[in-house]
Amino acid sequence: MTFFKMQDLKLIQHAAGAPGLRLLGLGPNYLPSKGLSKLKLLFDQHAFWTKNRNYKSIRRLLAGSTVAVTLWRNGAIIGFGRATSDGIYRAVLWDIIVSDELQRQGLGRKVVEALLASPKINKVERVYLMTTNSSEFYRQLGFEKCSKQNLFIRSSKNFY
Ligand SMILES: CC(C)(COP(=O)(O)OP(=O)(O)OC[C@H]1O[C@@H](n2cnc3c(N)ncnc32)[C@H](O)[C@@H]1OP(=O)(O)O)[C@@H](O)C(=O)NCCC(=O)NCCS
Repeated sequence: MTFFKMQDLKLIQHAAGAPGLRLLGLGPNYLPSKGLSKLKLLFDQHAFWTKNRNYKSIRRLLAGSTVAVTLWRNGAIIGFGRATSDGIYRAVLWDIIVSDELQRQGLGRKVVEALLASPKINKVERVYLMTTNSSEFYRQLGFEKCSKQNLFIRSSKNFY
């Protein structure tokens, strides 16, 4: 585990579609920071389902996100999360990730709390998420396991 000082961290709550990050790679203080390649590195190294996403797909997922949060330390992206929302009834959290070596120090909580506090999410009737291994993490953030509903998935045959 790597420890950090809170003042070394910068959390950015991006505007809808994250245009600065997506088009210019902007990071803290709106400076060019190669943000897309740093996000790709986090995706490739720290979550099993986000490995090998290409730049075009990462730009597309950012463009389609209502809110995105990046967490920076020493010029690297060490945390990420995003959400889609209709602004009133339903929102869904996606791709919540913290670098392995910095986990269990409250950073995942910061990312999710920043998403939930954003104006497009904070008044929504229900926020959904899907998780394979992180139920305890979401439980302590106020999410409840839903036993009444079934998760259905239709996968695209044409996905590249
Ligand atoms: C899930 C994840 C984002 C959590 O981030 P994190 O920074 O480690 O979480 P936090 O330190 O903010 O955790 C807050 C609390 O959640 C709970 N929690 C977090 N991870 C947990 C785990 N693996 N098992 C049990 N409880 C856990 C604990 O109560 C923890 O508080 P504590 O450390 O004081 O006990 C991180 O583990 C991660 O990126 N995992 C890989 C990607 C992933 O699976 N993401 C979830 C996608 S649905």
